[in-house]
Amino acid sequence: LIAFFAPKSLLGQHVLVTAGPTFEAIDPVRGITNLSSGKMGFAIARAAREAGAEVTLVAGPVHLPTPRGVRRIDVDSARNMLAAVDGSAKEATIFIATAAVADWRPANAAEHKIKKDGSGEVPQMQFVENPDILAGVARSPRAQSGELYCVGFAAESENLEANAQAKRVRKGVPLLVANIGPSTFGKDDNALLLVDDEGVSQLPHASKRLLAQQLVAEIARRVTGMSA
Ligand code: CTP
Ligand code: CA
Repeated sequence: LIAFFAPKSLLGQHVLVTAGPTFEAIDPVRGITNLSSGKMGFAIARAAREAGAEVTLVAGPVHLPTPRGVRRIDVDSARNMLAAVDGSAKEATIFIATAAVADWRPANAAEHKIKKDGSGEVPQMQFVENPDILAGVARSPRAQSGELYCVGFAAESENLEANAQAKRVRKGVPLLVANIGPSTFGKDDNALLLVDDEGVSQLPHASKRLLAQQLVAEIARRVTGMSA
């Protein structure tokens, strides 16, 4: 009912969202991941859809229901997430990167399960850096020309405002959103700090559902110039 009466502030827009963690294989039965629940990204996908947008949600391994009317692409590794994003970014007008992408992956995933050999020796693992999905999209011609509006997320544990502003510039995005306070991974509520070229504003503590609706309204205002 609320969704029905809500103003359709993103009508005609195509929103691409990444959400959840990535999973980086060590061998066929093991891997490295993180505690991202995907809840914020899924809530944003839902809110964007309810605001009238066409929505594509690229999701790492999470057990969350797909929001109604949202096209979902399930991925595991950062490289697979990048491929899915590249495949959908051409039609998108807004890209919102909420995924907690693994910064590194094991350099050489083993083809077969790594076995103990009885000697007590432990495996040595080498890592390589994963591609930066958001920075790559933000550098693309469509993002540079303003056809594709990019929004980054940041999880910082210290110096929130300064780190968020620095990250926004480093990623080359017009808007960066930082989680305020202690780890929000898995929680149902949060508070957000919005950093853009005009400065800093806050969305105070609320459910991720409400914050997603408020954030979508903030993005719509910046993209379309219209307030919801
Ligand atoms: N991101 C991404 N691809 C990566 C790493 C991050 O798309 N390989 C995106 C995240 O989805 C998020 C933003 O970049 O929107 C910031 O992620 P974050 O981990 O905070 O920044 P990093 O650049 O990885 O820096 P660090 O983890 O060292 O703080
Ligand atoms: Ca990171």
